[in-house]
Amino acid sequence: MPGSFAVRAENLVKVYEGTVRALDGVTLSVEEGELRAIVGPNGAGKTTLMRILTTQIKPTSGDAWVLGRHVVREAGKVRSAIGYVPQEFSVWNDLTGYENLLVYAKLYGIPRDRRKRVIEEMLEFMELKEAANRLVRTYSGGMIRRLELAIALMVKPRVLFLDEPTIGLDPRARALVWSRVLEYRKEYGATVVFNTHYMDEAERYSEVVTMMNRGRIVAEGEPGDLAKAVGEGDLVSLSLEGDTAKALDALSRVPELVVVSAKNPVLVRVENAQRQLPYLMEALMGNGVRVKEVGIRRPTLEDVFVKLTGMTVEEAEALGFRGAAAMRRAIRRGG
Ligand SMILES: Nc1ncnc2c1ncn2[C@@H]1O[C@H](COP(=O)(O)OP(=O)(O)OP(=O)(O)O)[C@@H](O)[C@H]1O
Ligand SMILES: [Mg+2]
Repeated sequence: MPGSFAVRAENLVKVYEGTVRALDGVTLSVEEGELRAIVGPNGAGKTTLMRILTTQIKPTSGDAWVLGRHVVREAGKVRSAIGYVPQEFSVWNDLTGYENLLVYAKLYGIPRDRRKRVIEEMLEFMELKEAANRLVRTYSGGMIRRLELAIALMVKPRVLFLDEPTIGLDPRARALVWSRVLEYRKEYGATVVFNTHYMDEAERYSEVVTMMNRGRIVAEGEPGDLAKAVGEGDLVSLSLEGDTAKALDALSRVPELVVVSAKNPVLVRVENAQRQLPYLMEALMGNGVRVKEVGIRRPTLEDVFVKLTGMTVEEAEALGFRGAAAMRRAIRRGG
């Protein structure tokens, strides 16, 4: 039953220009009020999925519903219940922040007598009051993203879709965007679905992660549970001097140790790094291996991706050709 979910997709397929299979059978359910991350490298199909869910494009086959409304047959009803911040710019550089909000307020049909109040409230909420009367071309990347959020939130959507909400932003600007999104969600009990290829962001800000690669869902679950797919325990990274052959030979004799990546820095998984590290170092030094640096960490979503796809995120991105990297550069240039 699609009706009881905020978002439901069934076997979505999208083929562009008869050749590019951007979505290859995506089925997904997002509960009302949930905070869902869709992660994956460039070209995974994240934006395509979001464009279908927000009624921008139609699927080649399959169905999807938002709050029980079909995204093709009831597109208008879907649009009036959602907010959407697209990956690409959606504001005008030659207008002020205030003017941008005003244009969209008219577009969304907010009655004339309420527009000013709604706009001021949004500017305040997004910490853009001071900059309201400046041209957007003078804004930083973070301010532009917050303005786009302000626009999306004017209509108080029950479901908010964010495509790479913090791409290209520095950590402080990223944190500010997130604090606003989370506060909105808390206040209105809204569902938030966001795309990101920052695995750390998905880990930190979502309740459930959907991991995509090449048009398919490769994993789904709570971030902590997904990380367990790599195996319980700790990861130890060993930055080595010289080649890794002698090190791998030594490590093969250490009990209860799994080599996750044999490239320098070598990554191994152990049950308990604190307990096992002395033995590990002893084995390496005994074999004449010089270790430059040791790092201990918990498995991340990045490690999950490597395990599930056999590729690093960078390798997977090299396969895509319309990169988020270009978008990042554009944002740094100030668009
Ligand atoms: N309008 C289009 N016409 C043709 N191919 C497209 C179009 N839009 C996307 N694609 C292709 O579809 C695939 C999925 O692209 P999509 O933008 O959905 O991925 P993404 O996960 O959002 O990637 P990114 O991280 O770069 O934003 C890619 O191979 C992309 O090149
Ligand atoms: Mg995208």
